[in-house]
Amino acid sequence: MAIIISIANEKGGVAKTTTALSLGAAMVESGARVLLIDLDAQANLTLALGIEPGKVQRSAGNILLESAQPSLVSRETGIPGLDIIPANNEMVYTERYLPSRPGYETVLRKALQDSELDYDFIILDCPPFLGSVTMNALSASNLLLMPTQAEYFSVYALRNMMYLIRRVRAQTNPQLTYRLLITMFDRRNRIHRTLSEQLHTTFADGLLQTVIETDTRLRESPIAGLPVIYHSPKTRSAVQYRALAQEIMDYVKETAAEPA
Ligand SMILES: Nc1ncnc2c1ncn2[C@@H]1O[C@H](COP(=O)(O)OP(=O)(O)O)[C@@H](O)[C@H]1O
Ligand SMILES: [Mg+2]
Repeated sequence: MAIIISIANEKGGVAKTTTALSLGAAMVESGARVLLIDLDAQANLTLALGIEPGKVQRSAGNILLESAQPSLVSRETGIPGLDIIPANNEMVYTERYLPSRPGYETVLRKALQDSELDYDFIILDCPPFLGSVTMNALSASNLLLMPTQAEYFSVYALRNMMYLIRRVRAQTNPQLTYRLLITMFDRRNRIHRTLSEQLHTTFADGLLQTVIETDTRLRESPIAGLPVIYHSPKTRSAVQYRALAQEIMDYVKETAAEPA
């Protein structure tokens, strides 16, 4: 069974999509097979891999609304070992109509039990709000990864995330664990340093050791249709996303080894 990781945060612009893509690519580079699923109507992840969302016929929305089989919706990317289930703007309807399906919270979880899916990791890029699609993602996941900036509004938004985690654990997925990832960090910025210390104190082990610093190369890579790891293999964020992949793969190994 694949390890399923949701990348979610109610806040937009905190590097969810960038992290989904860069983490997935770094895992592939280290030999894993990875499926990315774009769950956001903005389809930024789809676009960042050079796929035009307007031309996407079958998307993650077909899995959620019509129980389409994931292995029939997924497609290869230019990177061997990295596949994607794309999004298009019909995901807006998915968000709206999904709650009318009975047991809607676990539609994605059941779909990902599809035996045709042969991956080590499945990474879900969530929309920037905590609706029915994000609920499906969290109900299906082993791990929730929350990218956050070391900025006041981002840290504040974490309260709602913590509330949602409690709700998911109580209702559909008691096993859900989470980790916070600081993104777009600027070590010269005093506020960033102060808030990152506060996050360390508040979340302790819940905060990942790896920090992703600001790197303009990350803004260029989507234009090239390639993850930063392949677009600029030596740039700072490529190195840091490799470290993130290693830290998460180590964490997953440790938790799998723990007695239940
Ligand atoms: N570490 C970083 N340094 C500089 N820019 C970044 C970094 N991470 C992401 N970005 C840029 O910030 C913007 C928002 O990132 P994105 O991944 O789309 O966020 P989200 O999916 O949370 O809305 C994008 O333009 C992206 O290229
Ligand atoms: Mg996004």
